Amino acid sequence: LWEHHAQGFGNTVAYSQQDTTLCMDLLCMEFSGVGKGDFREPMLELTQENGCVVTDFRCRAHRVYAGKAEIPGMPSAHGDCDTLEMTLDDPVSGASVILFYHVFSDCDIITRHMAVTAGEKPLVLHRTMSFQLDLPESGYSLTSFHGAWAREMQPANIRLVPGRYQSDSKTGTSSNQSNPFFMVETPGCTEAQGGCYGFNLVYSGNHCEIAEVNAFGRTRLLSGISPFCFQHSLAVGERFDTPEAVLTYSPAGRAGVSRNMHHFVREHIVRGVWQYRRRPVLVNSWEASYFDISEDKLVAQAKAAKALGAELYVVDDGWFGRRDDDTSSLGDWVENPKKIPSGLQGLAQKFAEIPMAMGLWIEPEMVNPDSDLYRKHPDWALAVSGTHPSMGRNQLVLDLSRDEVCDYIIARIVALIGSAGIAYVKWDMNRCLSDICSGEESHNSDFYHRYTLGYYKIAKAITCSFPKVLFEGCSGGGNRFDLGILCDMPQIWITDNTDAHCRVAIQTGAGYGYPQSVMGAHVSACPNHQTGRVTPLATRFAVAAFGLLGYELDVTKLGGEESVAIREQIAFYKEYGELLQFGNSRRLEFSNDNYTGWIVISHDQKEAIALLYQRCYLPNQPSPILRLPGLLPEQRYTVRELAPNGQQCVANGDLLAYAGMRLNRIAPAAGQGEGLLVLPDFGAALYHIQVSRE
Ligand code: GLA
Repeated sequence: LWEHHAQGFGNTVAYSQQDTTLCMDLLCMEFSGVGKGDFREPMLELTQENGCVVTDFRCRAHRVYAGKAEIPGMPSAHGDCDTLEMTLDDPVSGASVILFYHVFSDCDIITRHMAVTAGEKPLVLHRTMSFQLDLPESGYSLTSFHGAWAREMQPANIRLVPGRYQSDSKTGTSSNQSNPFFMVETPGCTEAQGGCYGFNLVYSGNHCEIAEVNAFGRTRLLSGISPFCFQHSLAVGERFDTPEAVLTYSPAGRAGVSRNMHHFVREHIVRGVWQYRRRPVLVNSWEASYFDISEDKLVAQAKAAKALGAELYVVDDGWFGRRDDDTSSLGDWVENPKKIPSGLQGLAQKFAEIPMAMGLWIEPEMVNPDSDLYRKHPDWALAVSGTHPSMGRNQLVLDLSRDEVCDYIIARIVALIGSAGIAYVKWDMNRCLSDICSGEESHNSDFYHRYTLGYYKIAKAITCSFPKVLFEGCSGGGNRFDLGILCDMPQIWITDNTDAHCRVAIQTGAGYGYPQSVMGAHVSACPNHQTGRVTPLATRFAVAAFGLLGYELDVTKLGGEESVAIREQIAFYKEYGELLQFGNSRRLEFSNDNYTGWIVISHDQKEAIALLYQRCYLPNQPSPILRLPGLLPEQRYTVRELAPNGQQCVANGDLLAYAGMRLNRIAPAAGQGEGLLVLPDFGAALYHIQVSRE
């Protein structure tokens, strides 16, 4: 493995006087500082009191042991692993660094983080990345995931050329603009073959991923807290820990990386009683009623939801304070007696009589200027003293860097959840941070990170107080969709966009790094409220079934056929819930991008469900071929199209993977036909695959 270097070249800088061939710029390094001849992006940047930025960290010791410790104040992976710790000392700054490597061999993942401790001199940290990985070659391409509200997780692929590529967030959250998950592909890598690296970060604040190809054809990868607006002072002897990064490699292409990441998230990120428990089918009040909710309406909705087979009814925004629109009451977490005269407890009682589990929406990190909380504590909201803070959705952000604010939120929300029989909490966070200026001046130089730590403090305290309650993270959909959230909350509402056509792309993007068991996915009414698009109910369900199913429409106003269809959908989802939520999911490949498909396979590979989605019907085209990878090659399976008169075939796993099933389609205009699939615009079909008894 060791690369011998023969000489330094030209104007490179020799690290050591004894060995003039030892030039750091030529090497693959595990850790890089500043000022000793490695001219690439460093893992650590600091200054001493005298302004000196040079560091010269050298390995002093290492130890290997089983298990891992928690990272103070931050979430991190759990479960069986082996750890390597390397301790590095720097005679220049007096600081020391510990590099942690945790090996999770069950899913081919190594997690890494770094701890920096000041020695006898105080320091200011400017950049503390969670990992550095130097690949010996270049020619890779990088896929990162970008977007905006309602358009999350869109992949962008670039070829890495000499120079630097950076993907990051500066919003104070992991953000819908740039997710911390990314992949680096070796030349020729495809969906199912070729070397592919995958990376993620267990962090919910500003993050940064850097890829640099240097003059000598090495590729450096770094990820961690964004250095943007980050200056962290370390007093003598004080320690700073970075968040944990997640690294994997697979020779089986992007699908191999996804598989490792999915396994890792299910086994080592999500925890608690809901880790492996099938999540309830829910109905949510938001797109049904928005702010116009009332006790009578909610009870009627919950009864109708029960009749459809749903297991949980979520009272979304609008139940508290005087909140009739988004201009008031965030912070006043007390039910509105006009809307809910029996109070939350009384409402929960009525739900219990149905019986229907009750869920509740909260947004604990926020405050409206028009709220009792703001009137009492205006200084708790982020603002630069003497100026008007910038608003987002008419609301301000509470200063979670301050203990008293966090303590108040914890006490208030714990009292709220404990006050009624609440089974589920949707934890929203609807704006990006601005005016990041704390009343505590000492918090300002690394405010974004302190905010994130404050969030972790309240999230942990509140979720740990209610171990049986199911928490779902949400941030205007997927503005904070990351592994940090998933350590405290087992699922996230990944997008506010409930249009099935858009969701196919969003769920596909998210699926590269995250399993179906963490993605909330709802069926809503048509025309869709975000896009105005009309898609078949069957498609809306088929797409949402590849996530944690919910309905977000007025279930008291369904037509007869719709009710029957939804009742059947929910029954189907409950029957296959374990498989759909916790199975191994993969993307299917087609010869043209008019189609998208997914398959989710049981862990014993005896059963699977696949989805075929068609963007639009094109006449006179060959029918699609449904290739189903990931089944046992020698095993015989029966594949059944779940549609009236659906096609059926019996074939071995290898034939299904490579030759595939030829689908017999018929034009939507031609009506129905025996064994023929009618697939209109935005049409979808589901396939059930099971070990054949024939
Ligand atoms: C955000 C969420 C929605 C809904 C609204 C309520 O936008 O993502 O699902 O809860 O807030 O205001």
